[in-house]
Amino acid sequence: MRKGPMSGRREQGAAIASASTPAPSGDRIGDYEGSSSRARLLDVVPIAWLDLLLLAVADLPLSKGEPAVVEAMVHSLAAILPTYAVGACFVAEPGAPVGGPREIKRLPEGMVEPPAGTDPTRIFPGLAYEHVATIPGSATGSTLHVASDDHELDPDGSPAVNLVERAASALGRALPSAGAIGAAMERVRQEAAALEQRMVHADKLATFGQVAAGVVHELNNPLTSIVAYSDYLIRRAIESGGQHLDDVERLRRISESANRMLRFTRELVSYARPSGGAAGPVVLHSVIDRAIAFCEHVLVAAGMRVERAYGAEVLTVSAASEQLVQVFVNLITNACQAAPPSEGVILVATSVTASALEQRSIVVIIEDNGTGIAPEHVPHVFAPFFTTKGEKNGTGLGLSIVKSIIGAHDGDIRVESELGRGTRFVIDLPEKR
Ligand SMILES: Nc1ncnc2c1ncn2[C@@H]1O[C@H](COP(=O)(O)OP(=O)(O)OP(=O)(O)O)[C@@H](O)[C@H]1O
Ligand SMILES: [Mg+2]
Repeated sequence: MRKGPMSGRREQGAAIASASTPAPSGDRIGDYEGSSSRARLLDVVPIAWLDLLLLAVADLPLSKGEPAVVEAMVHSLAAILPTYAVGACFVAEPGAPVGGPREIKRLPEGMVEPPAGTDPTRIFPGLAYEHVATIPGSATGSTLHVASDDHELDPDGSPAVNLVERAASALGRALPSAGAIGAAMERVRQEAAALEQRMVHADKLATFGQVAAGVVHELNNPLTSIVAYSDYLIRRAIESGGQHLDDVERLRRISESANRMLRFTRELVSYARPSGGAAGPVVLHSVIDRAIAFCEHVLVAAGMRVERAYGAEVLTVSAASEQLVQVFVNLITNACQAAPPSEGVILVATSVTASALEQRSIVVIIEDNGTGIAPEHVPHVFAPFFTTKGEKNGTGLGLSIVKSIIGAHDGDIRVESELGRGTRFVIDLPEKR
């Protein structure tokens, strides 16, 4: 495995000219920044090279992670130092297959590296001179290499060596942000992919909703006929002396069932219709009752019972009633989906805050004794697309819609929950007097 530059260079002796010089390190590079050394650096490194290095640092692809950043630097160094061989060595590249370090090498046009066996400290063992600059703080143990076939080159005073040390030092400063930016970009990429999947799902549901609304609409006419004809037949059976009482009873059942379906389809159509109707005075208890009626089938399926604890006063809010119905439908549906194995109860309580101020606030509590919400999930339940029901069973939009509707009515909603005991949503709405 290729290690730090010094030990190997000592073993190489004079073959590597920089072996006689002190180890290049972050500190040593820092020395160049002292005023006396700066003059020396500027003596030996052309300003144009420093400018190009500055541009190269500004262009580093920080979002792509450390190996890509180091590789970009090698490309830039090769352009700045066209007569030198430059490269990099990654000792422990993340995700790379096990099997030794990876090297990037750029040889100047026309320069041929003679075969010279292997040397674990060098990536250009065939060239006369090689300087290795450690990148301080590199997570992959990367090193930058500059090499030449010029035996006369003074490693200590070489502008190329100075420049490559500068580049290594600049990389050392840039790499921590490269790691953080890389990780953040990866998170953003994953979140964007997940969001896209959910959007596709939500879109499918929306299309399904439109299809369902169309189907319901089509059902309305035949259902109306069934109700009308069964009522007519009941009347006729009774008028004809009631000889076939069994049939009258059967017809009544047909009529009742058809009526029930008709009510349900009408509710469904009004629910599916794009909401956003104009706000007006709305009696809160009627809105909640409508939502409960609409959820009847969900409640029955979940074995949940609704307990109303309405305040004695008639409470009025200024609202678009369809939107408020949607709020309570969503909350009741969620409670049903979290129903306990038995004795499920949803408490719906209303009250007004006892305030002497002109603007009173209505408080609605929707509380269930269901499964509850895990504490780590509680802060996220109002976030769009947050669901614990899996993609097929929930879009995770219910509560975010609830929150935005309540917000649009100048209200507020909060949640309290305990795993295994139940969940309570508390809504505050300004009263309309
Ligand atoms: N009454 C409740 N009891 C337990 N968990 C709840 C309750 N209400 C909401 N949650 C949790 O909050 C999450 C988000 O609810 P939300 O209504 O926004 O989405 P959903 O019900 O998962 O999907 P959708 O409503 O779009 O079908 C749920 O997945 C569930 O984990
Ligand atoms: Mg929901």
